[in-house]
Amino acid sequence: MTILVTGATGNVGRPLVELLAKAGADVRAVTRQPEHADFSPEVKTIESARTGLSGATAVFLNSRALGDDLAGFVNQAVHEGVSRLVALSAINCDDDFSRQPSRFRGDRNKEVEQYAVESGVEWVSLRPTVFASNFRGMWSGQLSAGDVVRGPHASASTAPIADRDISEIAAHALLTDDLVGRRIPLTGPQAYTNAELVAVLGDVLHRPLQYHQVPDDLVRQRFTGLGFPDGFADAYLAMQASTVSTPAVVTHEVDRILGRPAETFAAWANRFRAEFTPQKG
Ligand SMILES: NC(=O)c1ccc[n+]([C@@H]2O[C@H](COP(=O)([O-])OP(=O)(O)OC[C@H]3O[C@@H](n4cnc5c(N)ncnc54)[C@H](OP(=O)(O)O)[C@@H]3O)[C@@H](O)[C@H]2O)c1
Repeated sequence: MTILVTGATGNVGRPLVELLAKAGADVRAVTRQPEHADFSPEVKTIESARTGLSGATAVFLNSRALGDDLAGFVNQAVHEGVSRLVALSAINCDDDFSRQPSRFRGDRNKEVEQYAVESGVEWVSLRPTVFASNFRGMWSGQLSAGDVVRGPHASASTAPIADRDISEIAAHALLTDDLVGRRIPLTGPQAYTNAELVAVLGDVLHRPLQYHQVPDDLVRQRFTGLGFPDGFADAYLAMQASTVSTPAVVTHEVDRILGRPAETFAAWANRFRAEFTPQKG
């Protein structure tokens, strides 16, 4: 089995590549920077997704990594005889685009699923919710500087999923026939408000952490300062607002598919505690 993984150095891709290699698959990992990839020696790195297609039997599709070539790449994959496509989509891919912030940075989670489904070959679509790793990007800087997280809607709800659990489900989708033809909404084991997530982090870190809700304009300024494109912040705010009075869905698909509990947010945070901790000196 020869599996081509796009987005191979990413949050989902990196653990996926190693899981596939450990399972004995012939893995081709696509990265623009092979010299920094640092995979296990048996993994073959490839600089362009298209050049890795010849002889591949299955492909993991990450729309962020494929960018504008997504549709053409899927066509070529089918043309070259790939027999299974596993798409990394998103739980909100059918929502109005105004509530899908990632679209404003170019992700095409609706299309990646659609192209896989319409490809004529076996397909699986993974629809994860918010990755736990998002909170490293959003909150680690604030929590390294103090005990307060500032952000929108204290009562907005999410059920963050450990990225590693998504990778494990992706490996299952690529290596077994169990999930073929399914769109699978993937969540963490529990829904939390933003304020509750900060409280969980406080318990893990043994610190008196607090969440302070701030006006939308401040949230916009922060995203702009971090280099996010126009429209991202508004879509993020709209997405958060839509969950204020409705707790996030919890699907338990991770447990069903992997036969073990999904990782909790607390366990995930404990693995990354150093990133939320002020550096001494
Ligand atoms: N974060 C969430 O909460 C969430 C939730 C649901 C769905 N999703 C979806 O999951 C996908 C992202 O997955 P991920 O977090 O695993 O990916 P990622 O870590 O952001 O990126 C994966 C790899 O793709 C390459 N890449 C990134 N940006 C690129 C660009 N503009 N052009 C070409 N290559 C690029 C990079 O590899 P090299 O530098 O090595 O080439 C990167 O390591 C997106 O479609 C996102 O919408 C995310």
